Amino acid sequence: MEYRALSNTGEKISVLTLGTWVFSGGGTWGDVPVDQCVKTIYEAIDRGINVIDTAPFYGFGRSEEIVGKAIQPQRKKVLIATKCGLRMANGKIVTDLTPEFIQEEIDNSLLRLKTDYIDLYQCHWPDANTPVERTMKKLAQLQAEGKVRFIGVSNFEPALIEQASKAASVVSLQSQYSMLDRSVEEGALTVCREKGIGFLAYGPLAGGILTGKYTSPPNLKKSDARSFFYQYYQGKKFERVLDLLKELKTMGHPLNQVALNWVKCQQGVTSILVGCRNPEQVEHNVGAADWNLTPEQLGKISAALASLEDME
Ligand SMILES: NC(=O)c1ccc[n+]([C@@H]2O[C@H](COP(=O)([O-])OP(=O)(O)OC[C@H]3O[C@@H](n4cnc5c(N)ncnc54)[C@H](OP(=O)(O)O)[C@@H]3O)[C@@H](O)[C@H]2O)c1
Repeated sequence: MEYRALSNTGEKISVLTLGTWVFSGGGTWGDVPVDQCVKTIYEAIDRGINVIDTAPFYGFGRSEEIVGKAIQPQRKKVLIATKCGLRMANGKIVTDLTPEFIQEEIDNSLLRLKTDYIDLYQCHWPDANTPVERTMKKLAQLQAEGKVRFIGVSNFEPALIEQASKAASVVSLQSQYSMLDRSVEEGALTVCREKGIGFLAYGPLAGGILTGKYTSPPNLKKSDARSFFYQYYQGKKFERVLDLLKELKTMGHPLNQVALNWVKCQQGVTSILVGCRNPEQVEHNVGAADWNLTPEQLGKISAALASLEDME
């Protein structure tokens, strides 16, 4: 496993982070039994992954509870990254980064995670109704109380990252980044690189499609993450991804590893958050961690990606 510095924290984190949105189960990611999730976490730790990313919103607490159950005997071996600021109101998801809601959320997260501190506490999505300075002041207070070690943000645009960093010490940004979604390249990724803020790339397999496991469009429920969040699973976009995968198959590595390694090779990336449903997927994905695509291979991939640019 390769380890990289997380900003100025003094922590070295694994280049792969275990993503646990899939532990939500149910309508969002399908059936995933608790025992299987726990084994997945053990496999990740055994293979050198030292960061686990979760959120209260993943399965409305289910993911955090599973992480808490699994890591309790080996708490110090991993950094727990969780989040705040999403809630349901009248059946809709709303962002809420008010100090009051953050206080409520962190108390619940600590209980579910069976710990008295969170290593990386991240604002899940920006909240346009709460000044970011108010949010950051609250997070800095939690940090001073020892409940939070480091503060991170997620899905923030460059200007908001700058604003947040002026109000508190922000050590990381979490954003979507994969061969199929490169929107951060000209903005947030550059800002993080320049300011020495860690960059945690989520959705590196675009929900699994980049593993090449689908040869025809899957039949997904509307509530499935691949329907509402990663929108490459139907129609023309699906065909274009299959064309890309044909090119990626010539790289001499399994497709999942090519997709992960490509993100790893991009400047400024600190860790790649990959969702794993079972220990086998962990094992398969960790195979992407200890080598690099050659400059020639990266060039070929860039050319293939350029032809995808009009995919919208
Ligand atoms: N901050 C945010 O707003 C945000 C948003 C999204 C995600 N995240 C974080 O980032 C993490 C990663 O993103 P993600 O889980 O959404 O997407 P992802 O990592 O691109 O895809 C994960 C899915 O791909 C499939 N998969 C993984 N490895 C595989 C393998 N070796 N072979 C075949 N299939 C494989 C699994 O689903 P199947 O088994 O069902 O195919 C798995 O759940 C999340 O878990 C979460 O922690 C954060």
